[in-house]
Amino acid sequence: MQLLKEKVLEEGIVLSNQVLKVDAFLNHQVDPALMSSIGKEFLSHFSGEKITKVLTIEASGIAPALMTAAHLEVPLIYARKQKSLTLKDDIYVKKVYSFTKQVSSDLTVAKKFISPDDRILIVDDFLAHGEAALGLADIILQAGAEVAGIGIVIEKAFQNGGERLKDAGYRVESLVRIVSLENQRVEFAEDHEEKEKINHATSI
Ligand code: G4P
Repeated sequence: MQLLKEKVLEEGIVLSNQVLKVDAFLNHQVDPALMSSIGKEFLSHFSGEKITKVLTIEASGIAPALMTAAHLEVPLIYARKQKSLTLKDDIYVKKVYSFTKQVSSDLTVAKKFISPDDRILIVDDFLAHGEAALGLADIILQAGAEVAGIGIVIEKAFQNGGERLKDAGYRVESLVRIVSLENQRVEFAEDHEEKEKINHATSI
């Protein structure tokens, strides 16, 4: 998605080889026009999937997921994140570990919001190791519903989340894929592939 790539290049800050800060348009201040374009883009990917609900996690997943739900004309549910929880029987719970933040939390969703005939699209802002998306998928499966697909705004393709989700059999659509954050530079997958092709052609 060209618009998103430009935004990442103009306003993203590479904090380390592992972490990209995007608080100017996604994680703190939010660009509504960009979120709407993201929602439209996910609509174009998933419009044939008979989606009944969109599921994300508070907090930063909510903005892109809400605009996706608006374009798909279905409700949005966001899982709440709690430190730890005593067992309750009216909620689905899944413990997830964040490698980036090095904390565990319990994802919770009220049982009344998911039914077995739902086909649910998971949307999240970042894909790193896949823990969050796999946790949401687990909750959908606990409810006996179906995972219709996973939409990711920014995939860090140098971490293993994408592979883990595809290995688990899920359809994953990422709007931008970053292959490297080394040398304080964002390198996108397509640009990397293009560079490889040119290098290959010039070496023949
Ligand atoms: P995973 O779910 O793919 O395994 O990712 P991981 O556990 O490593 O990271 C989880 C949290 O860290 C998520 O935020 C995710 O959005 C965020 N995150 C991961 N990599 C990056 C990055 O490069 N840049 C930024 N800005 N965030 C990243 P969260 O805990 O759900 O917090 P919130 O911001 O949504 O409240």
